[in-house]
Amino acid sequence: MIDFKNKTTLITGGASGIGKIMARLLLERGAKVILWDINTQGIADVIAEFKEKGEICGYTVDISDQEQVKSSAKEVKKEQGVVDILINNAGIIVGKYFHEHSTEEISATAAINANAPMIITSCFIKDMMDQNFGSVCNIASSGGLISNPKMSVYAASKWSLIGWSDSVRLEMSQLKKNIHFTTIMPYYINTGMFDGVKSKIPILDQEAASLTIIKAIEKKKVMVTLPGWIYRVTRLGQAVMPIKMFDWFAGSIMGIYKTMENFIGRK
Ligand SMILES: NC(=O)c1ccc[n+]([C@@H]2O[C@H](COP(=O)([O-])OP(=O)(O)OC[C@H]3O[C@@H](n4cnc5c(N)ncnc54)[C@H](O)[C@@H]3O)[C@@H](O)[C@H]2O)c1
Repeated sequence: MIDFKNKTTLITGGASGIGKIMARLLLERGAKVILWDINTQGIADVIAEFKEKGEICGYTVDISDQEQVKSSAKEVKKEQGVVDILINNAGIIVGKYFHEHSTEEISATAAINANAPMIITSCFIKDMMDQNFGSVCNIASSGGLISNPKMSVYAASKWSLIGWSDSVRLEMSQLKKNIHFTTIMPYYINTGMFDGVKSKIPILDQEAASLTIIKAIEKKKVMVTLPGWIYRVTRLGQAVMPIKMFDWFAGSIMGIYKTMENFIGRK
């Protein structure tokens, strides 16, 4: 078990959605919380709302900009010390057919969802290795386990995140380091990021989803889908069914392939 008390935690995308809720849950468990977000006003609002709960601060960072990430990481180390627990949570979705994406939208999605977690982790992991303690939680998506129309670029970024996150988990274990990697793959959550989505499978509640993630970090869980059965159903279904049969199962029975038809997203 990881005890969050007095641990320094950094959450990207902490100004809204599950990032904001996880910040509150960590403060309630006695952790010091550092928010990174592109939304300066959002950071200020979250700090104002939660400052009575514990030690919280924030930095405006565009995590798609490597230079900003590196200089903010330096600032954090100087001002806040070693980051013990890192939650790579910030993410974006464009939500169009692939051919409708601009090249800028493709690059931004890859930079924020896939590359930034690697760059940010590379800034903090050596300190974790030196103190032989740390935890990195990467918020991927069930879209990283299953193909889905109007989600191709997002899916690409999350498949990438899952492969990287779980590979570094193995590296830390091979190197006998007490550093844990938890990869989270949620189904749709009602934060507003996926507004307009219609789903046969119930959309997750943001408060409950955030609590499950914090408990997964606490219990050093490795690969976690929300809900839990999604992992077994997708992995097993893909393994035993021919692709056309799996398409029928995921598309018609589970209704997944049409979920994005009326996507609006966060404006
Ligand atoms: N909401 C869902 O249905 C759902 C499902 C599966 C996975 N996820 C993943 O969970 C994570 C959090 O999602 P959410 O629903 O809370 O989203 P959200 O939109 O509420 O929050 C995302 C946060 O990331 C910040 N952000 C965006 N671009 C940034 C950048 N370039 N630099 C720094 N910060 C940036 C935003 O300002 C925002 O505060 C994302 O990685 C998302 O892909 C969400």
